[in-house]
Amino acid sequence: MPFKRPSPARSESSSSVEEHPSKRPRLSSPTEIISNASNTRPLKVYIVPAKIDSKTFSSLCRLTERRDAILEKVSPKKDGNGTEVDVCDFDLELSGDVHEADVVVTAVHMKQRLERHVDWELAKSKAIVTPQWLEDSVKYGRPMPCGDYAALNVLHDETVHECPDRPSCNSGSPEPGPSHTSSRSPSTSKQIPEDAPQPADISLLTHTSRYCCCRASPLVCPNQGLIKQLDKIKEARNLEGEERSMLSYARAISVSPFPHVITHSNLKREISKLPYLGEKLLSMVEEFIKTGQINETQGILTSSRFQALSAFTTIHGIGPHTARKLYNLGLRTLEDLERYYEVEPGRCGQETLAVIEAAGRESDEAIVERSIKVALALRHDFSQTIPRAEVEEMNRVVMSELEQIEQGCKSIVVGGYRRGKPQSNDVDIVISHRNWESGAGKIKGLCKRFVRRLHERGLVTHVMHLSGFHEHNALRTHHWDSLEKALTVFVLPGDGSQRRVYRRLDLIFAAPQVFWTAVVGWTGSTMFQRDLRLYAKQQKGFKFDSSGISRRHDSKLFFPKTEREVFELLGLVYVHPTLRNADI
Ligand code: UTP
Ligand code: MN
Repeated sequence: MPFKRPSPARSESSSSVEEHPSKRPRLSSPTEIISNASNTRPLKVYIVPAKIDSKTFSSLCRLTERRDAILEKVSPKKDGNGTEVDVCDFDLELSGDVHEADVVVTAVHMKQRLERHVDWELAKSKAIVTPQWLEDSVKYGRPMPCGDYAALNVLHDETVHECPDRPSCNSGSPEPGPSHTSSRSPSTSKQIPEDAPQPADISLLTHTSRYCCCRASPLVCPNQGLIKQLDKIKEARNLEGEERSMLSYARAISVSPFPHVITHSNLKREISKLPYLGEKLLSMVEEFIKTGQINETQGILTSSRFQALSAFTTIHGIGPHTARKLYNLGLRTLEDLERYYEVEPGRCGQETLAVIEAAGRESDEAIVERSIKVALALRHDFSQTIPRAEVEEMNRVVMSELEQIEQGCKSIVVGGYRRGKPQSNDVDIVISHRNWESGAGKIKGLCKRFVRRLHERGLVTHVMHLSGFHEHNALRTHHWDSLEKALTVFVLPGDGSQRRVYRRLDLIFAAPQVFWTAVVGWTGSTMFQRDLRLYAKQQKGFKFDSSGISRRHDSKLFFPKTEREVFELLGLVYVHPTLRNADI
């Protein structure tokens, strides 16, 4: 190969993602999932888009988010004797994965038509209902009997059988247990799972705020089509290093979870009042309303330069700057990159132990080069997204291994998983210790020790980067100095019958005092984080990032004991993780 390798810029190293709003390509499937205890688990609804126009589709999606409406309906009801009767804990979630849906909503009535979207065998194991079921269920605050709304006659019996309407709900004979009392005040009539967004919080968020951290950004919003088109322009600007322009599009995207479908009639009246939508962006929005697409986006999609740069940056460690350098060397495809970096697909030997031992002594170039080589060799595995169940399994395995070398640790899976994404590109876990006093001491040095152990156990196959204290804030002595980070490649233990898929796993170790700031920081999304930092600085005179919160004028440190406290310290309304999807 005639090419000489470039030395990638520092700002594109994996350790500096925090400063980089540009992200890997995101999934576009319309989904919203909140994980809850099984007895209060929301009903997962999958909507088949066929035969439903985009406006209706959006309003159906919105219905699944109308918790307030549902709450109103479930205030105590009286039976014929004037006695309050119980109502069910009814909650809905939009799901992007038909396999996990409890109910499939469709306007299709023919078997052949449905089969184009849902495998027939799978369809037989689901309640398949018309959109009216969704509307009525929301209207009446309880899941309606699916049989009455069966979308396909031939699946009527299966639909009745699979219907998740819970007989104990609204029956007048409440089940025992704390969430089902027969008489309760309106304020307690609905036991909202701890884990779900609270309507009281949501009502305090405002979609016209300049800061993402004051707005509600669900995973799916009514203007998803528009956002996808704008995101391509944003990506193109990012790839070309046009930071300011990129940020304008990122901001436009982040305000587009406007709670209604953007139309001609609300464009002038309401949309133009949203922050960050200047003349140019408004004209693009108008173009989208008129034609369903944006001309510039179409041009970008057909550009071979865009395609190449976009493909390059899917490789962990390759940022726009490196991508452009590689392109300028004449490289166009990922196969070209393989030859250039002398990588064999699927094979990536690495002296992992040596990498672990050398942690902290390597140059940024060495770290980036290694990340690229590993990511390139394993790209076919890394391009397979990780379902939620597997994310949970990975966390379980990691924590049971950790228990073997350090007892009393705790973890929260953060990143896209925590924001409700049905599929993740990698798994990010923040780990700390339960003991507030002695925890920091126990966490110190644990990252390296633990990664060594995971490697010995065959669970971590590669280490892309391992960082310890002071890694990215060497000059900021005032912050709690205890974030340790390992960017690794992980495989779940298998029984040998199947090849295990290599997964990207990031482990972040935080002292108890900075556990919640690390959780907030790593939950993302990127724009949400960016605005949290900005809000803290501009509105409160605070400095906030994953490694801590401090007051600027006297450097006083704060150690929040809950996630809510992080928001309170910054003077913010709590935003539920599933409403922090301010990027696409
Ligand atoms: P990810 O890149 O893992 O993205 O960063 P994601 O949102 O989980 O989505 P997937 O993985 O593509 O499915 C998670 C969050 O962690 C923060 C960023 O704010 C990001 O939103 N982060 C990431 C940091 O704070 N520092 C880093 O070095 C990396
Ligand atoms: Mn992630």
